[in-house]
Amino acid sequence: MIFKKAKFDIDYNNIPKHVAFIMDGNGRWAKNKGLMRSAGHKAGAETLFSLAKDAKELGVEVVTVYAFSTENWKRNKEEINYIFKLMETVFEEKYEEMQKNNIKVRMIGTLDRLVGEYDSLKKKIEKIIDDTKNNDGITLNIAFNYGSKDEIIRAVRNISKDVKEDRIKIDEINEDLFETYLMTHGLPKIDLMIRTSGEQRLSNFLLWQLAYTEMIFTSTYWPDFNSKELKKCILEYQKRDRRYGNAK
Ligand code: IPE
Ligand code: IPE
Ligand code: MG
Repeated sequence: MIFKKAKFDIDYNNIPKHVAFIMDGNGRWAKNKGLMRSAGHKAGAETLFSLAKDAKELGVEVVTVYAFSTENWKRNKEEINYIFKLMETVFEEKYEEMQKNNIKVRMIGTLDRLVGEYDSLKKKIEKIIDDTKNNDGITLNIAFNYGSKDEIIRAVRNISKDVKEDRIKIDEINEDLFETYLMTHGLPKIDLMIRTSGEQRLSNFLLWQLAYTEMIFTSTYWPDFNSKELKKCILEYQKRDRRYGNAK
């Protein structure tokens, strides 16, 4: 008897290499349950680590997650402090698990605003990046104090400096060179971007890098996003016809 491939079967030869997530909806998830927003962030952090494991098992090589945007500084200090404290705790509590699962942590965004009371978080982030740099199971790329416009401006400044100081010529500036100045340099192209919580916008996330990325917007709040949802998204991705401007 020949078994037909079920329509819900993932094609393991077509797994997106790099998946980016806008982890949105923590606050609304908590509100729906009559909880404080902080409870949503805490639940969201658990989701992140179980998702990294699920993604690794499916064969995804890089997961980029939007954890804190350059615009999130507009939130009240209490919420910002909670998120930062949570990150510190999570890096400690998940340390063994990350090593065991061979997770390499890297970051996009800048740590320059982590001064004074936030210095300990800066040290924790630097330590986890250093301690996991030789892991090769899956890369967990955390977008922290990240804004795509900020990233592009920094790239332009650095290119200008290199032109001025004769390291590159204006004519040498092309897409490939420009990409080497972006914070995602060295990572594979992003195949799939998933935003949870029903919002359909980019909120200053990876504007350049998402030029030809497939996008999925799901109404699920981030803390409820699970392995089943991830598989559903990958199946949806596998149905897409990536044409890159070509005729069919
Ligand atoms: C995403 O959840 C987490 C961060 C932006 C840090 P939100 O906190 O934005 O949750 P909602 O969108 O208010 O529900
Ligand atoms: C985007 O979510 C940033 C992160 C998930 C870290 P926001 O909740 O900040 O985005 P907006 O304000 O709804 O656009
Ligand atoms: Mg939000």
